[in-house]
Amino acid sequence: MTTKWPHWTQEVRSRVTQERWEHVERVALLAAQIAYAAGLDTRRAYAAGILHDLARDLGDTALLALAPPECDLDRRWPLAVHGRAARNLLENLGFADGQVLEAVEDHVTGPRPGQLLAACVYIADVSEPGRGVNAHIRELAFKDLNAALSLAIESKVQYLSGRGTEVHPRTLELYEHLQGCRRAVGDSQT
Ligand SMILES: [Fe+2]
Repeated sequence: MTTKWPHWTQEVRSRVTQERWEHVERVALLAAQIAYAAGLDTRRAYAAGILHDLARDLGDTALLALAPPECDLDRRWPLAVHGRAARNLLENLGFADGQVLEAVEDHVTGPRPGQLLAACVYIADVSEPGRGVNAHIRELAFKDLNAALSLAIESKVQYLSGRGTEVHPRTLELYEHLQGCRRAVGDSQT
């Protein structure tokens, strides 16, 4: 963890709108609370929450310069890379905590399997009270983090599919992994 935390807070504040900053503070607090309930590192969860939207208010050109597209969706909708762009920007600025960087990168498309710190940040981002949605996911996260993650990813995939909107390949990969886990649990119970 960096020893110059106020510097990073200021870095975010200088790069996002006031409204975004208020969202960022709510995400950080909620991510730390969920991490506490799950017995995870609350300081890292809070840090990732503060840093997650560092690149959110950049324009398309800057986003794609920081995080070159990995798929057609990234190319067509550059906001899809704002997590990866934030990670790369942080690394360029000298931030070096790998767990926090991974949570920042994956907050848009979903955590990689088993990355529970990133799951706290992802869930906090989609369910912080200011969003006005997903309170049930927030409540579930305090009791069962993995179940809340599955619900959050399923809801996102179903919502996007229902609108005929393409799901990011990284999210789809996670969704399929979670569905596979669910099937494996079901099989072991029959
Ligand atoms: Fe974001």
